Amino acid sequence: MIFLPTSTTLLLAALSWQSDATPLSTGKKCRNVPGSAGFPDATAWSAFNATISGRLVAAIPSAEFCANRGGCTDAEWTSAVFRNGIPGAMNQVNWEQGSDLTPPSLCVVNGTTCGQGDVPLYSVEAQTVADVQAAVKFATTHNLRVAIKSSGHDYLGRSTAPHSLLIHTNNLTNFSFTDAFSVGNESLGSAVTVGPGVHLTAIYEESKTLGRIVVGGSAATVCAAGGYLQGAGHSPLSPTFGLAADNVLEFQIVVASGELLQANSITNTELFYALRGGGAGSWGVVVAATFRTFPTFNSTFGLFTLSAANNTAMAALATLHAQHIFDFDATYSSQYFVVIADLTGTTTISTMTLKTYMINQTVEQSQVIMAPFLAAAQALPGVAVVSSNYTYGLINDILSQPDDSVGDDLVMGSRLIPESTYKNSYKTVGEVYQQLLDAGTLIIFGNLIAGGKVAENANIDSAVHPAWRTAKTHLIILNLWLDSTPQDEINAVRSQFKNTQLPILERMSGPNAGSYSNEADVMETDFQTTFFGPNYAKLSAIKSKYDPDDLFIVGAGVGSERWDEWGLCTV
Ligand SMILES: Cc1cc2nc3c(=O)[nH]c(=O)nc-3n(C[C@H](O)[C@H](O)[C@H](O)COP(=O)(O)OP(=O)(O)OC[C@H]3O[C@@H](n4cnc5c(N)ncnc54)[C@H](O)[C@@H]3O)c2cc1C
Ligand SMILES: *[C@@H]1O[C@H](CO)[C@@H](O)[C@H](O)[C@H]1NC(C)=O
Ligand SMILES: *[C@@H]1O[C@H](CO)[C@@H](O)[C@H](O)[C@H]1NC(C)=O
Ligand SMILES: *[C@@H]1O[C@H](CO)[C@@H](O)[C@H](O)[C@H]1NC(C)=O
Ligand SMILES: *[C@@H]1O[C@H](CO)[C@@H](O)[C@H](O)[C@H]1NC(C)=O
Ligand SMILES: *[C@@H]1O[C@H](CO)[C@@H](O)[C@H](O)[C@H]1NC(C)=O
Ligand SMILES: *[C@@H]1O[C@H](CO)[C@@H](O)[C@H](O)[C@H]1NC(C)=O
Ligand SMILES: *[C@@H]1O[C@H](CO)[C@@H](O)[C@H](O)[C@H]1NC(C)=O
Ligand SMILES: *[C@@H]1O[C@H](CO)[C@@H](O)[C@H](O)[C@H]1NC(C)=O
Ligand SMILES: *[C@@H]1O[C@H](CO)[C@@H](O)[C@H](O)[C@H]1NC(C)=O
Repeated sequence: MIFLPTSTTLLLAALSWQSDATPLSTGKKCRNVPGSAGFPDATAWSAFNATISGRLVAAIPSAEFCANRGGCTDAEWTSAVFRNGIPGAMNQVNWEQGSDLTPPSLCVVNGTTCGQGDVPLYSVEAQTVADVQAAVKFATTHNLRVAIKSSGHDYLGRSTAPHSLLIHTNNLTNFSFTDAFSVGNESLGSAVTVGPGVHLTAIYEESKTLGRIVVGGSAATVCAAGGYLQGAGHSPLSPTFGLAADNVLEFQIVVASGELLQANSITNTELFYALRGGGAGSWGVVVAATFRTFPTFNSTFGLFTLSAANNTAMAALATLHAQHIFDFDATYSSQYFVVIADLTGTTTISTMTLKTYMINQTVEQSQVIMAPFLAAAQALPGVAVVSSNYTYGLINDILSQPDDSVGDDLVMGSRLIPESTYKNSYKTVGEVYQQLLDAGTLIIFGNLIAGGKVAENANIDSAVHPAWRTAKTHLIILNLWLDSTPQDEINAVRSQFKNTQLPILERMSGPNAGSYSNEADVMETDFQTTFFGPNYAKLSAIKSKYDPDDLFIVGAGVGSERWDEWGLCTV
C-alpha cells in the first residue's frame, strides 16, 4: 500500500468501488466485492456456512452492534474484553470508519445512520483448524479480500479491510503446558502452547499456578499468538529474557494453500524466520504458538508521577531521565515512561508517569535504584515528584491486567532509539521532547524494554529488525481525534507524525532508523526499510513462496506495495 497524493487516492478509490473483477488495465487484479460478477451469491455463502458448522456471521460496526442492543455504556465502549465478543469491532474505532472511501461510509457511536465502513462483510468465528482452512479455501476460490483478527488491537488498522471476509481467531483458545518440549531431537524444556485467542493475562494466570512466567506485555487482552509475536513482541521482561519472538519455539499455521504447516527451527524454517518479526498478518493464519516458560519470581512495581511547570521544565526532566536510563541496567529492569501535555489545553503543565518493573528486587532495593533520579528530579526548577508508590509481588500479578482501555480514535508513529543516543547525546533527548511539545504533541510514550537480553540475542536468525538489538528505548507518539472531528482535521492529525513529529524525533533515532511495526504509523513512506530494514528482500521472497497470490495483505506489510490502500486492487 503506497500512500499516494490525496487526489490520486480518491481516484483509485472511485475506480475500485465501481469495478468488478475485470481488470481496470492490463495486469491489474482486483478482489471480488459485492456487485462484482465473481462475488459469491447467497447460495454459495450459505453452502460455505454449512461447511463451518454455521460459524459464519455478518460482521457489523461496533456502533451498530451497540445501537441494536439499545446502546452501550461508556464502560462497555472502552472495554477490550467487551469488544472482543463483537466480530466487527476494532479497538481503535477509527479503523471501523470508511472515512476515506468515496463516498465516506461512517458508523459513529450513538449516530443515526450506519455504513459498513472498513468493517469486514462476514466473519468466520473459527472454533477449529478446519474452520480456518475452509475460510482460506473459500476466499481463494472466490478471490475475496481476507482479514484476520484475534483481539482487534491493531494500531495500524491491519485487522480489518472493507468488503473482506474476516477470519476471527479469538475463539481458538487451546492452552497446554509441558515440561519437555522438543523440536526434532532437541529438548527445549518447559513451554506453553497457546491458540491465537488466548490473552496475555490468561497466560500469566495459568502459568502462575505452575510457578512459571512467559515473556509478554503488561496487558489484558493482547493475543500472544496473534499479531504480537509476528511484530516482535516487547515486554517488561525483555531486558531479562529477550523479545517474545526470541522465545517462541514453534508455530502451527494455515497458509494460503489451505495446508496446516508446522514452523520451527528444522521444519519450514523460512516461515519460522518470517513469523518472528516479519510483520503481523502477512504469512497465513497462526492457529498455535509455543513459547518458553521461565521460573517465576517476585519483583517491585514502582509507579511515579512527576509534573513540569512548562515545556522547558519538561525538557530538563526528559534530559535527566535520559541520563538515568542506565540506572536499571544492573538488574535488567524496565520502564514505561509517558509524557502527557495538559489535554485540556488550559495550562502549560505536563506530566511524566513512570511505570517501573524492578525485576527480582525488593522494595528497599528498588528505592535505592530510584533514589538518584527522583532526588535530582525534585531539585529541578519547575519539576515536582507528585507521587511514588512501590508494590511488591509475583511478576505474574504485576503484569496481569483486568482489561485494556480502548475505543479511541487514534494513530501513532514510533522509532527505536539507539542506546548510543542516550550514551553520547542525552541532551538531545530533552531538546526533542521540548520541540515535540512546543509543536503541539499531546502524548509521548516511552518504553525502556530493549537492551540487556534483547541486545544479547542479536545472533538469533529471525526477521526481528536489527535496530531492536542496538536500541535502548522505543518511543511512540500518539495522535487522537473524536468521532465527530471533520475529515480534513482527521487527515491533518493522521499525517502529523510523518510531517511534523518525525523530523523532530529523527534527531534522536537518526535517519532511516527502525520502528516497531506493531506500534507505528501505517502511512510510513518507506515502510519496507523502517519496519523490516535489511530483512525486506528475504521476507518478500518468503512471501512469494507461501502466499504467491497475496491472499494475506495488510497495510505497510510485506507485499503491500503491490496493492491499494484497502488491499482490493493491485496498483
Ligand atoms: C492495550 C494494548 C497494549 C499493548 N501492549 C503491548 C506490549 O506490551 N508489547 C508489544 O509488543 N505490543 C503491545 N501492544 C501492541 C500489540 O502487539 C499489537 O496491537 C498486536 O498487533 C496485537 O495483536 P493481536 O493479534 O492481539 O491484535 P489484532 O488486531 O487481532 O491483530 C493484529 C495483527 O495481527 C494479525 N493477526 C491476528 N491474529 C492472527 C492470527 N491468528 N494469524 C495471523 N495473523 C494474525 C492481524 O491480521 C493484524 O495484522 C499493545 C496493544 C494494545 C492495544
Ligand atoms: C450461518 O448458519 C447459522 C446456523 O445455521 C446461522 O445462525 C447464521 O445466521 C448463518 N450465517 C449467515 C451469515 O447467514
Ligand atoms: C452513547 O449513548 C449512551 C446512552 O445510550 C451513553 O451512555 C454514552 O455515553 C454515549 N456515548 C458517547 C460516546 O457519546
Ligand atoms: C467466543 O468468544 C467470545 C468472546 O470471548 C465469547 O463470548 C463466546 O462465548 C465464544 N464462543 C464460543 C463458542 O466459545
Ligand atoms: C485443541 O486441542 C484439542 C486437544 O488437543 C485438539 O483436538 C484440537 O484440534 C485443538 N484445536 C485447535 C483449534 O487447535
Ligand atoms: C535424531 O536422533 C536419531 C537417533 O539418534 C537420529 O537417527 C536422527 O538423525 C536425529 N535427527 C536429527 C534431526 O538430529
Ligand atoms: C514472593 O514473596 C512472597 C511473600 O513475600 C513469598 O511468600 C513467595 O515465596 C515469593 N515467591 C517467589 C517466587 O519468590
Ligand atoms: C531471581 O533471584 C533468584 C535468587 O537469587 C534467582 O535464582 C533467579 O534466577 C532470579 N530470577 C531472575 C529472573 O532474575
Ligand atoms: C518555566 O518554568 C520555570 C520554573 O518554574 C520558570 O523558571 C521559567 O521561567 C518558565 N519558562 C517559561 C518559558 O515560562
Ligand atoms: C500503591 O499501589 C497499590 C497497588 O496498586 C495500591 O493498592 C495502593 O493504594 C497505592 N498506594 C498509594 C499510597 O497510592
